[in-house]
Amino acid sequence: MFKIAVCVSGGGTNLQAIIDGVRQGVIPNTEIVRVISNNQNAYALERARLAGIDAVCISPRSYESRELFNEALLAAVDEAAPDLIVLAGFLVVLPPAMIRKYEHRIINIHPSLIPAFCGTGYYGLKVHEAALARGVKVTGATVHFVDEGTDTGPIIMQKAVAVRQGDTPELLQRRVMEEAEWIILPASIALMAEGRISVEDGQAKITDGER
Ligand code: GRF
Repeated sequence: MFKIAVCVSGGGTNLQAIIDGVRQGVIPNTEIVRVISNNQNAYALERARLAGIDAVCISPRSYESRELFNEALLAAVDEAAPDLIVLAGFLVVLPPAMIRKYEHRIINIHPSLIPAFCGTGYYGLKVHEAALARGVKVTGATVHFVDEGTDTGPIIMQKAVAVRQGDTPELLQRRVMEEAEWIILPASIALMAEGRISVEDGQAKITDGER
């Protein structure tokens, strides 16, 4: 079994897509061993519990310093012993020690076509507000490995989504989720579970599978 830990902060629709993908076999031979939230009110935690998955909250508010929070977060991950850590709307800057320890074993979903509308300050609705302000006609989502930069790691998968006249940030966010995020995140995890992704010279390569 390929073991994944999923880190969340909010509603958890991407987590739900992963849960459904595992159930339906879109993500083969995989178990979600733990869901970790930094926010105890995240509905994602409820989704995990409803699916019978171990769910824990590690909130920075419960720790006296960032260092102690970072240690607790890493300990919560280590305890679950995952093969892969999936950041599914996780609004926390990861501890550098965690990034080093799990090199090429942490992936993130970002709601734009990187390198557009990414980096510091581009999260949640802000990404879609920026895309609309620039007047792009196509946006999308990207799954990438996490390195020590912000949205700079090797790109695994991307999917484009049309921007429509009259879009609001909320409408665009929803379309990007439905048409891109909920598809490419499970698909990327499936490739990881099948051992079909490698990183060569800073770029993610997908190898042909037997399936
Ligand atoms: C998604 O748009 C994801 O790309 C972003 O945060 C949002 C999380 O949504 N980084 P959800 O919690 O998965 O519903």
